[in-house]
Amino acid sequence: MPKARTIYSCQSCGYQSPKWLGRCPECGGWNTLVEEVISPFKDSSSSLDIQVGQSSPQAINQIKLGKEDRFLTSIAEFDRVLGGGIVVGSVVLIGGDPGIGKSTLLLQAFEKLAVSGKKVLYVSGEESGRQTKMRAERLGISSANLFIQAETSLEIIIKSIISLKPCAVVIDSIQTIFTPDLQSAPGTISQVRESSGKLMLLAKKTGIPVFLIGHVTKEGAIAGPRVLEHMVDTVLYFEGDRGHPYRVLRSVKNRFGASNEIGVFEMKDSGLAEILSPSELFLAERPLNASGSVVAACIEGSRPLLVELQVLVSHTTFGIPRRTSLGVDYNRVSLLIAVLEKKADLSFINQDIFVNVAGGIKIEEPAVDLALIMASASSFRNRSIDSGMVMFGEVGLAGEVRAISQAEMRIKEASKMGFSRCLMPRNNTKQISADFNIELIGVDSIAEALELL
Ligand code: TYD
Ligand code: MG
Repeated sequence: MPKARTIYSCQSCGYQSPKWLGRCPECGGWNTLVEEVISPFKDSSSSLDIQVGQSSPQAINQIKLGKEDRFLTSIAEFDRVLGGGIVVGSVVLIGGDPGIGKSTLLLQAFEKLAVSGKKVLYVSGEESGRQTKMRAERLGISSANLFIQAETSLEIIIKSIISLKPCAVVIDSIQTIFTPDLQSAPGTISQVRESSGKLMLLAKKTGIPVFLIGHVTKEGAIAGPRVLEHMVDTVLYFEGDRGHPYRVLRSVKNRFGASNEIGVFEMKDSGLAEILSPSELFLAERPLNASGSVVAACIEGSRPLLVELQVLVSHTTFGIPRRTSLGVDYNRVSLLIAVLEKKADLSFINQDIFVNVAGGIKIEEPAVDLALIMASASSFRNRSIDSGMVMFGEVGLAGEVRAISQAEMRIKEASKMGFSRCLMPRNNTKQISADFNIELIGVDSIAEALELL
């Protein structure tokens, strides 16, 4: 009989080695290798065979799409992030810090499905049925179509999915699920990979969409991350600051819709509430005519979003000047500060710089560059910028202001929010045909933009 084999696999990148190593040669992580036992034979009675039927090549125009290939949860923000509803047979991974509201969001979405007459299953490996019920009571959920199962064994879960035939399934935390085919502990990379693989096969074969909830490691990646991210169809991150009630659901990968789409929610006593006009929310507490505060027009996914960008430049008390950035990439901030120093003759050598995007949201677009430059200069010179002005534009290393995409959408949103002036790249002004009742100020370089101060 073949012997069971022991391997050591890295819990963050999946690298495997026959002997233990202190440092993973693949990803460089220290002490990430964990012993896992691989049994050479599979107990066929315990594993459920989900065989994919024989396939044959098909002409693409012969493949029929039905209307029923997507269905809505009627939580509009959630549906939009998914790319327009849940796709039949898809596997969606939802990651986020503990306590951010992943379980709450999915329980609420599934309740909506249950109320509309669809049978749904919520598998919790972390909480007992009663604990889930307690949460549900708080959220006012009690639909006969919502089934709860507290289970961690993959085989039992697959059996109940096959016998219940629900419309959709949630696995509340993939890290708690284990399959007896592998001898390693639940939550290890092999278990996570194997369990997700089987659930994926089940989803594709039966057409039942599966939502996997995944915990996030200290470094911010979903544990067992890279292996899962490319397996599943859609990866959503639920982010937000514990101190703020606002939560942002962001799609980082989506085979069925735009990536980087966001949905904004507010955590209340009675669960998560959708926020349909996030610009209004992010600008709500804006100080008017304060130096260092500007409004930037960004696009997240397919939606324009106005955010307040704040920069504080203050004298360094001792040693090396500090640069701190929240919500904007740190390297981008350093780069733009260097451009300001070189091209606009502002010296930040003995100045600390703190950057913050109000409301705890993260902006990754380069369109925020111009706003960052203006806010830094405004704070440095202690001169405020007209609070009726909104801005966008990418800044190059030569200090030029470059055109960006979807300018019209940003202007439209700014005009809707009552802004009267818009500072933008000159090249973009030529493309705007419609009149949005807002004054467009086109600039070619940061020097030109800074004259406004
Ligand atoms: P939860 O969904 O359990 O987070 P996760 O599954 O991501 O770990 O959310 C728990 C947090 O949400 C907890 O801190 C309490 C808060 N909460 C509310 O504020 N209101 C509510 O109605 C619920 C159910 C939770
Ligand atoms: Mg949870």
